Amino acid sequence: MKKSIGSILILCTIFLFGWVSVHSQEEMEVVDNSVFDQPRRTSSLFMHDDHNESAGIEECHVCHHVYEDGELLEDESSEDSSCSECHEIDASGDMPGLMMAYHLNCKGCHLKEKKGPVLCGECHHK
Ligand code: HEC
Ligand code: HEC
Ligand code: HEC
Ligand code: HEC
Repeated sequence: MKKSIGSILILCTIFLFGWVSVHSQEEMEVVDNSVFDQPRRTSSLFMHDDHNESAGIEECHVCHHVYEDGELLEDESSEDSSCSECHEIDASGDMPGLMMAYHLNCKGCHLKEKKGPVLCGECHHK
């Protein structure tokens, strides 16, 4: 009896750890805007996993990219870093500033695919 309670506890712990590690992006509903000093808009809607599933995006590096000497590395992904760890508020050289990085990535694809919101209020909801 004791033994089986022990193994159930161990299983629960393993399950909980697994859940916590995928929890954050699965539960994500908006893009956090707290890195902007005084956000002028509401944070943008973005249900991370649902969005990527319905948009049919399979590769993480479509958004979480890695560049080396200006070249996109196809097999690498930077999903452990937030966009703001590389993109500063202000642009420098070929590196778009943070707001531009989001707009080019998000709106850029929506425009290209003629699907997904492109108007301010559709992303920055009231
Ligand atoms: C359409 C763009 C897009 C795609 C595709 C995408 N992500 Fe993300 N992901 C984001 C954005 C935007 C954020 C928020 C980044 C930030 O706050 O700087 C994010 C955040 C995350 C986070 C951090 C969660 C948190 O709460 O801090 C993880 C982990 C993550 N993504 C994993 C993945 C994995 C794994 C894949 C591929 C299966 C993937 N992402 C595909 C856009 C994307
Ligand atoms: C590991 C660092 C790093 C992270 C993290 C990163 N970027 Fe970038 N990004 C770069 C670099 C470097 C360039 C400039 C590439 C060049 O030299 O043209 C760039 C360019 C861009 C561009 C313009 C070129 C293109 O690929 O369309 C967009 C848009 C962009 N990033 C959006 C994002 C978004 C959105 C996120 C977060 C989901 C993000 N980036 C995370 C390093 C990063
Ligand atoms: C590579 C293409 C691509 C990128 C990058 C992309 N999207 Fe989308 N997005 C789509 C497509 C396609 C749809 C329409 C999906 C559908 O019709 O079900 C969509 C739909 C949406 C919707 C409507 C509701 C939903 O979840 O389906 C929102 C909101 C949205 N995108 C926000 C964003 C934000 C914010 C970003 C940047 C962090 C982003 N998207 C990046 C392709 C993209
Ligand atoms: C496809 C979705 C999308 C659309 C459409 C869009 N944005 Fe954004 N925008 C974002 C994301 C994602 C961010 C990053 C932080 C966040 O969640 O607000 C952002 C950031 C910003 C920021 C910097 C943060 C702040 O609140 O000060 C401003 C300003 C902004 N957007 C204004 C606009 C305006 C004006 C329009 C219409 C011309 C627009 N956006 C259209 C997704 C979008």
